[in-house]
Order: sequence, then structure tokens, then C-alpha cells
Amino acid sequence: MVLHTKIDDGVLLITLDNPPVNALGQGVRAGIMKALDSIDQDSSILAVVITGAGKTFCGGADIKEFGKPPVGPSLPDVLLRLENTRVSVVAAINGVAMGGGLELALSCAHRIADPRAAMALPEVKLGIIPGAGGTQRLPRLVGVKHAAEMITSGRKASAEEALSMGMIDEIIENDLVAYAINLAKGLAGKDRHPPLSAIEKPADWDVQWLDAFEKKIISKARGQLSPVKALEAVRASGEVAFAEGLVREREIFAECMKSDQREGLIHAFFAERAAQKAPVLDGASPREVKLIGILGAGTMGAGIAIACAASGYSVKLFDTNDDALRAGLDRIGKTFDANVAKKRMSADAARDAMARVSPISSLDELNDTDLIIEAVIERMDVKKEIFQALEKIAKPGAVLASNTSYLNIDEIAAATSRPQDIIGMHFFSPANIMRLLEVIQTKKASMDALATAMAVGKKLGKVSVLAGVCDGFIGNRIFKKYRQQAEYLVEDGALPQDVDRVMRAFGFAMGPFQVSDLAGLDIGWHNRRREDATRDPKERYVTIGDSLYDLKRLGQKTGAGWYRYEEGVRIGAPDPVVEDIILAAAKENDITRRKITDDEIRDRILFSMINEGANILEDGIAQRALDIDTVFINGYGFPAYRGGPMFYADQIGLEVVLDGVRRFAQTDDYAWRPSALLVKLVEDKKGFSSQ
Ligand code: 3HC
Repeated sequence: MVLHTKIDDGVLLITLDNPPVNALGQGVRAGIMKALDSIDQDSSILAVVITGAGKTFCGGADIKEFGKPPVGPSLPDVLLRLENTRVSVVAAINGVAMGGGLELALSCAHRIADPRAAMALPEVKLGIIPGAGGTQRLPRLVGVKHAAEMITSGRKASAEEALSMGMIDEIIENDLVAYAINLAKGLAGKDRHPPLSAIEKPADWDVQWLDAFEKKIISKARGQLSPVKALEAVRASGEVAFAEGLVREREIFAECMKSDQREGLIHAFFAERAAQKAPVLDGASPREVKLIGILGAGTMGAGIAIACAASGYSVKLFDTNDDALRAGLDRIGKTFDANVAKKRMSADAARDAMARVSPISSLDELNDTDLIIEAVIERMDVKKEIFQALEKIAKPGAVLASNTSYLNIDEIAAATSRPQDIIGMHFFSPANIMRLLEVIQTKKASMDALATAMAVGKKLGKVSVLAGVCDGFIGNRIFKKYRQQAEYLVEDGALPQDVDRVMRAFGFAMGPFQVSDLAGLDIGWHNRRREDATRDPKERYVTIGDSLYDLKRLGQKTGAGWYRYEEGVRIGAPDPVVEDIILAAAKENDITRRKITDDEIRDRILFSMINEGANILEDGIAQRALDIDTVFINGYGFPAYRGGPMFYADQIGLEVVLDGVRRFAQTDDYAWRPSALLVKLVEDKKGFSSQ
């Protein structure tokens, strides 16, 4: 049963009951239609209340139906019928109302909500637009400006914000459904509220504002079509009559539904959720975590402490250096203050979170913590020493995690007597903002230690992905190939601004050289020095980054790196000094620079990532291709509408990728060794989706 109904003193209560999120699948749509039929047939029904079972009102259309042949009744038809029903309908929004769920509420005469409810039309995030009247009804209800902003961003409004916008009529603290039934009883027999379709056009209709807003959306969307298409539909709400607006909305919806971008975004949606349920952890139970110890109060440690304390964990923060500890606490306090100023957090919540962070000056004080996250300098000797101390101090069952980005955690674990408790939790900087968390599975890690890290990640609001031990894990190992190709391309004939432009056009927020300038060229330099001892002499080495480092051009922080930065400007300008260094490096290595096309730049960078992704799958570092996609979308700015590097590879065809790898191998057969898995999949005519 996906929906149930009951009549209470003339009020028909319709409860959507389709776990997990009461999505509007075919059964629910048919159920609503049947309930609406009963209103016509039963004159004792005088009003209606619609609500959702559990903690969700409705998660919207059933995304699993996308791409399959539609089976009626369609949602727009159900909602038109609902809007024109003979009695008043009250939506009792008991939790989130997303997409079609909010469109359902907009088709009711009254909307009341629980204080914890939230509302959004998030369709653009799935590569589509609201397709059941949302783009026509919401602007008529809250004005075109609020509606355009909500619909093109897909962001959620809290119940309080929804009330202030006029999206809902009231917030009800207790017993929402009982209140709704009483409200409906009061409406029984009275003239019903005119539907939103009766409003001619949005009250604040403003073409000039829309034109300016459209320019902003196009630039913000970075090649993603759905926000721009959504605005086109919103415009119809003021340009044509309601019925015609619905037709336009439907046409645009259908066009988006057919797009590759929709496929990419839906893949990203399900991949993100599947990544967090690693099959090897099926049946493992997370250990209880209330108190977290963090070692190291630098940028990383402080960022992790902010994320933990803001999510309700108590934190003990340790640093060997008192000044560093003080500076870390200061950074945490300032971040919470800034969050309050930006209204991301209430002053009370910030105060409580800060009170949960206790500085400690002795490692022994970590003896009561449930999870310890080490975020100290990246040196194997230091880390081994720390974990040897922690194994004695930490209580039995405590999980001990290293935040290392590269080091071999198996080696750290082997130096202790409790390797089953030792894992990696690789946060990305700034750890309180970046969504990705790689949970690193060491050889002897117990499944429940790993499940604990995944559960903590979920509570922190992170997207957690399980990865195996290797240099760079999933993300940095593939990113190294990306960076390498970017530098090879520059030596071969492109300029940093060419490479950055092409990758931005592909959908990245920033190109690789902009990222390097932002992060600091010292990071790459230290990595290269770390790799010096083990680098294969056959590997091509580009010295340009080292030359820039030697000139103290460390990126934005020194006013110059791959680009030059004028005082107070964060967008870099191409610099002839850099071009001279590039030309000199090419000459030194006997490289005849040539014109490199945008397609070659894009393909070399992406194919090198895909080939390494295939190696990572073959090595068992990532369990599934979707894990790699999730890492790149959430940690490295890979455009979600491309679905991630492995999904993109499937979309363009693995034979195209393999052909490219073999073609590029003619000039560098070391960098372009085709992955055995890639070759096998092409032979078997399979895609990465089979992995
Ligand atoms: N259809 C089908 N399945 C859905 C779904 C939907 N709309 N929304 C969520 N699910 C599934 C998830 O895949 C997950 O399944 P799993 O347990 O098998 O992995 C399960 O529900 C729980 O989802 P979450 O882990 O995301 O649960 P949360 O409690 O964290 O979040 C939520 C709940 C806020 C509803 C979140 O799932 C969400 O944002 N869902 C997407 C909402 C959305 O985009 N709706 C618009 C759909 S398109 C539409 O309505 C078109 C219309 O205009 C015609």
C-alpha cells in the first residue's frame, strides 16, 4: 500500500506512504486520482488533508521511473485535477517537500507545515526542470523573483523562510495533522480558495529584472543547461496564460529529460548514495561515537574540529605546540562567528558548538575518546610514533584514523599491535566545507571500524567513499595524472590559460593552473620532492613548476604563480615571465612546441584520468566505477552534469577512450600505457557501469 485514506467527520485524509521518501511513483499517482474520484462520488466528503507518512512529506517524482516509458496518470494531470477539486484541500507538510512534492502542495488551497519541514524545487540539480506546474504556480504564489531564484538554484527553503515568502500559510508546532484536519473541518461547506492558476500573472512581474537575472544564471551554470531552461519556463508564467504556460513547461521538461546532462546528474545522485553503502560493509555495525580526539590544530585539524563540533560531537583538540593550539582554537571561533554573520548558523548553535571543543595539552587525555583523527605533518616517522603512543592510550574499541593524503597507512598500522582499529579518514581542505571524505581501508582494518568512519562521515554531512591504500588513494592518485597532462600540454605548446579555459568550458569551476595558484605551488613542490626517490626514470618530468617555486612564485598568496595577481584581485593575468620559463623548459628538453587544439587538451587530460581510474578499479582501490565518479564530483570540481569521469567515458564510448590512449602513446608510451581493464572492457563491449 503506497497511500492510504480515511474519512474523519467529513474530512478525507490522504496519507502518502511510499517509503523511503513517499515519491510520487505510478502507484501513488493512481492512488491520489482514485481518492479524488471518491470526492466526486461521495457528497459526505467536505474537505481534504494531504500529508506524508514518516518524516518526509514527499520527495517528488520517482526518479527511478526516469528514462522508462511513462505510465499514467501523469503528475501534471493529477495535480490539475487536485487543484480543481470541488472541496478545499489542505497540505500538511510534515517534512521535506521536494520537486513534485512541493508541486503537489502548490496545487492545494492551503499549505501548513511542521517547523522542521523544508521546501525546494531541486529539479535543476537532476538536469530537468519542475514538470508538474511548479514553474507556473510558484511565481504566482511568491512572486517571480523569489520563484526564479529558488527554481534555478534548486535550493531548500526552511519552513520559516517559506512562511516569510508566502509559500506556506502557517507553521504548526505540535500535532500538524490534527490541526490540519480541524482547519479542513472549518473550511467545509465554505467557498474554496481560488487556485493559483486563477492568478493572471506574478504580482512582481519585471522583465528587466529577469533579463539581468538570466545573464547571471548563464554565467553561474558553467555549461549546465537546466537552470537556464528552468528560467525560460518561469518566464512563461508572466508571458502567457496559465494553461499555455503548463504546455511550455512540459515541452522544456521533455527536452531536458532527453539530455545527456540529465543522465549524468541522475547517475551522480544515485552514485553518491550507493558510494556511502559500500557492499563490503554490509552487516557491519558502527561503533558508538560521541567524543572525538583530534591531533594537530593546524588548518586541517581545526577544520575537522569545526565539522565535528558543528555536527554535535564533543571534541578534544591536541597540539604539541601551545601557540598552534591557541591559533587553532582562534580559527575555530572565528569560523563559527563568520557562520553566524552569514546566517549559516544561529548564535546559540555557534556558542554550543564552540563549547564542545576542549583544548588538551597531554595525549593521555585522549583516553576516553571514541575516535581519534590524526592530522599532523605528513611524515611516516612522526605518524608511526604517534600511533604507537595512541595504541596504548586509546580505550579498547576506539577507532584510530589518520588524515594522511598519501602515506601508506598499512605501514603505520603494522607498527602497532591493534591494526584492526587503524584506518584512514582523508578529509579535503577546508575540512569544514568540502563534502568529500575518503575512508581508507587498511589491510587488517575491522569492518566495524570502517563502518564507524562512514557513519561519522554521514553525521558530518560528508559524502564518504571507501578507498584502498595506495599513493594518493582514489582522488589524488587520479588527480596526479590530470596535473601531469596539464603540465605536459604546456611544455608541448599550450599555455596555462589555454588549458584552464578548455577545462572550464568542460564544466570545471577552475582550470588546473588556477587551482594550483589557489592551493599554493609549494604543495606540488613538496609532493614532487617526496616522489624523487621512487620516480621511474622513464617518467617524463616537467621542471616549470620547480622553476616557479624557485622564483618564490607560490600562487595567489605571493601575488604570482602560474599567473600574476594585481593587488586585491583574485583572477590571475597571464604573465610573460611564465611564458619565457615554459619556452626555456621546452627548449632544454628538445621539444618543438606546436599548436595544440582544444580537443587535444580536453582528451589528454580526461583520458589520462579515465585510464588511471580503470587501473584503480583493477587494483581494487575503488570498489566500483561509481565510487570514482563520486570522489571527483564531490572533491575535485568535476562537473556533476557529466556524471564523473567514468560515466563520461561510458557516454563517449570506451573504444574512443582506448583509441585516444593508443594514439597519445605514440609520443609517450610510458604515460599512456593502456589499462588492462580498459582493454578488456572494450573487447567485451562493456562499460564501466558493469564494474
Ligand atoms: N525518487 C526515488 N527515490 C528517491 C527519491 C526520489 N525522488 N528521493 C530519494 N530517493 C531514495 C534515495 O535514492 C535513497 O534510496 P536508497 O536508500 O535505496 O539509497 C532513499 O530514497 C533515501 O534518500 P536519501 O539518502 O537522500 O535520504 P535523506 O533523508 O538524506 O534525504 C531527500 C531525503 C531530501 C528527499 C533526498 O533524498 C532528496 O533530495 N531526494 C531528491 C529529491 C528530488 O530531487 N526531487 C525531485 C524529483 S524530480 C520531480 O519531482 C519532477 C517533477 O517536477 C515532475
